[in-house]
Amino acid sequence: MSRRMTHGIRVLTVGALAALAAFPLTGCRGDRSDKPPRQFFPGMDDQPRWKPQAESEFFADGRTMRKPVQGTIPFGTTAMVSTAPWAEPFNAKREEFLAADSARYEGVDEETGDFITTIPIPVTSTMLSLGQTKFNIYCAVCHGYNGEGSNPALDPELGSMVGRRWSIPVANLHDPKFREGGEFGRVGYLYSIVRDGKGVKPSQTMSGYAYALDSNEAWAVVAYVRALQRAQQGTLGDVPESERSVLGAPPLPPVVEPQPEGQSGTDAAAPAGGES
Ligand code: HEC
Repeated sequence: MSRRMTHGIRVLTVGALAALAAFPLTGCRGDRSDKPPRQFFPGMDDQPRWKPQAESEFFADGRTMRKPVQGTIPFGTTAMVSTAPWAEPFNAKREEFLAADSARYEGVDEETGDFITTIPIPVTSTMLSLGQTKFNIYCAVCHGYNGEGSNPALDPELGSMVGRRWSIPVANLHDPKFREGGEFGRVGYLYSIVRDGKGVKPSQTMSGYAYALDSNEAWAVVAYVRALQRAQQGTLGDVPESERSVLGAPPLPPVVEPQPEGQSGTDAAAPAGGES
């Protein structure tokens, strides 16, 4: 074979190889075809299933969409049932979806339709500190950490920074009308304010926090509001005997108010004129 020929073959071979390599780039992409697509893993493409609302030959009533079997419990977004400790919060949420108890979930007595006057879940110190955490996150920005609200017309310094600049006065949660026995003081009412806000959109004056506070958390906030109110109402009579000597400072002046169960003596004897 002459040198020339060898060279020619080489050129041809290289050219052919290059064309072959470029071939896949030209094909396949952007082409339309009426042929069935190539299936490399047919088991993944063709799965036995029904489309929603489609007809079924399998079921006597011809529907593919079946009713949940009797006794099925709505679960919401978390498809998980476990008794493991980590699952507790999810299981607690699960209760929420049942929401059949209007006192517990709406703060309203089922029979009378009135707001309830006692918190329907156990009030514990854990619950109160949860309430404090949530109050400080969601309420304090406007109502202040101690719930005094703000009213620039009365006192430009009162309340939180946001509250002072709010377009309308932010309610003072220590107002007697929001306390126990007050016109708007029932816990069920406070619960409804926490969850749904005050007024109806678009003329709502305070928006609701149901998106952030579930039923337990909302009750915890209500319990904490009660604790804040109580803290402002405290008298020396509330301090247990054993702790009283520890309080070297003069007690707060007694609040003139009917005492619930004739708490006798001590607060009347407290010297007036402590710091307020
Ligand atoms: C963005 C500001 C803002 C936040 C945050 C806020 N509030 Fe209010 N709240 C208001 C204003 C303003 C009013 C007064 C509404 C009115 O008088 O119409 C009010 C009123 C209230 C009232 C009295 C309702 C009534 O009948 O007059 C209660 C109780 C209350 N808020 C509790 C809460 C609690 C508890 C939280 C936290 C979950 C909270 N608020 C968060 C602004 C706020």
